Amino acid sequence: MAIRWRQDLEIGIEKIDDQHKELVDSMNNLLEACSAGRAKEEIEKTLAFISDYVVTHFNYEQEYLQKYGYPKYDAHVKLHKFFLQEIEELNKKYEEEGPTLHFIVVFNKKILDWFINHIGKADRDFAEYLRSSGKIS
Ligand SMILES: [Fe+2]
Repeated sequence: MAIRWRQDLEIGIEKIDDQHKELVDSMNNLLEACSAGRAKEEIEKTLAFISDYVVTHFNYEQEYLQKYGYPKYDAHVKLHKFFLQEIEELNKKYEEEGPTLHFIVVFNKKILDWFINHIGKADRDFAEYLRSSGKIS
């Protein structure tokens, strides 16, 4: 199983799109390791990567939401904050239980949900705003 990037997921801001693709690459790497029975070796690296990634990426994205006067800025930032908390909880959980199968399943589910619901919906809403308001072509 792998996540497939689709063109309609693109925001139109190259660096944000590249960052979104980086998340997809990281998850695909983990999913591939899961199929190959190497998930326990990869999970720590993926968790560490995503924990850093979300901070940098959200700050970057929020700058753009603000710059382009996105009317749903506050609600969007709330979603980012909620996800940061979830990542923090995942880190705590990892410290307690280590690379168990249970942890890996929970981790995969959270990140895939984020991909579908946030990148696939909330971030796309921002992209639609940019296009419909003529702020980006
Ligand atoms: Fe976002």
